[in-house]
Amino acid sequence: MRNFLTPIVYCGYINNKYMKKLIAGLISGLVVMTVSAGEIDASKLPPASDKKDVTFEKDIKPIFEKSCFKCHGPDSPKPKGKLKLDTVASIIKGGENAPDVVPGKSEKSPLVAAISHVGDEDDFMPPPKNKAGIKPLTKEEVGLVRAWIDQGAK
Ligand code: HEC
Repeated sequence: MRNFLTPIVYCGYINNKYMKKLIAGLISGLVVMTVSAGEIDASKLPPASDKKDVTFEKDIKPIFEKSCFKCHGPDSPKPKGKLKLDTVASIIKGGENAPDVVPGKSEKSPLVAAISHVGDEDDFMPPPKNKAGIKPLTKEEVGLVRAWIDQGAK
């Protein structure tokens, strides 16, 4: 009887030990993910502009051209974060951590948190203290980007 039970007890021990490790790993993984993916605190974002019919070509492209194209422009063979910001299609496609823009939901769009300098400092855009000396967007510019996304990012 004892010989019969030993392997089962042994298996139980292994399982227990590895299950504990596995569960601990999963839990810490989840904690890290929730902290880094971090919900955007919408109350900290500049308000969306109330401008109607905001379009990429007319309203947004000039802002991105001035503040983002240096690193995410049409001529970048290797755009930063694998994100090109020169066409609606490439913005919707997103970069390494796509989606960056969620049409209709500016408060859930990581790009908006990045340009608002809300959330993880590593994600702030343009990167603070960039060598090109590109300044952060104004609240009005962020507001326009939000309105554009809220209106469907067309
Ligand atoms: C001086 C260079 C530079 C400028 C200017 C710049 N970025 Fe970035 N951007 C980066 C780098 C570098 C990364 C990659 C960050 C990383 O991997 O940690 C990045 C990543 C991103 C990402 C994340 C992409 C992804 O899916 O992982 C977004 C969104 C973004 N930038 C938006 C913008 C916007 C909007 C502007 C203009 C307002 C801008 N960036 C201006 C350098 C720049």
